[in-house]
Amino acid sequence: MNSMNALRLSLSVAALLAAGSAAADAKADDAARQLATRSGCFICHAIELDAKGPEGLKPVGPPWKAVAARYKGAKDARKNLTTAVMGGTSPYNRHWKDESSGIAMPPNGVAISEADAAKLVDWILGLQK
Ligand code: HEC
Repeated sequence: MNSMNALRLSLSVAALLAAGSAAADAKADDAARQLATRSGCFICHAIELDAKGPEGLKPVGPPWKAVAARYKGAKDARKNLTTAVMGGTSPYNRHWKDESSGIAMPPNGVAISEADAAKLVDWILGLQK
């Protein structure tokens, strides 16, 4: 094989690999959205920053892109957020007072396993603005 063909071959292999990983990302994204839907998260949360809730108010819970922006890279973010999702949050210590219209998140442990909650938290923390 001459070097031009070798270059073409390796470029198309790279393109195939990139397409494969984009497809895998899209699949993981779909699975996470379905899990969030089944678990009732979207009753209160949106993904996008400019989403509106009922009556044009802010959504009940903070948009998940805002959650990602606040906690991405923060120490213990995965553990703390999974605990918040499972056990709920305190209305006396609101983390999202000005960015949501709900006063607290109820415990979701009845709707989702801890392992699935951690999976969702990982996905949320990976969302880009
Ligand atoms: C009944 C409404 C409701 C549901 C259902 C709900 N949330 Fe929330 N969520 C909230 C509210 C309200 C807050 C903001 C709490 C605060 O200000 O401290 C919140 C906060 C969060 C936070 C940020 C917590 C923090 O400490 O900053 C994450 C992450 C989150 N929710 C994920 C989820 C996931 C995942 C689900 C589904 C399993 C879910 N929520 C279901 C209302 C809800």
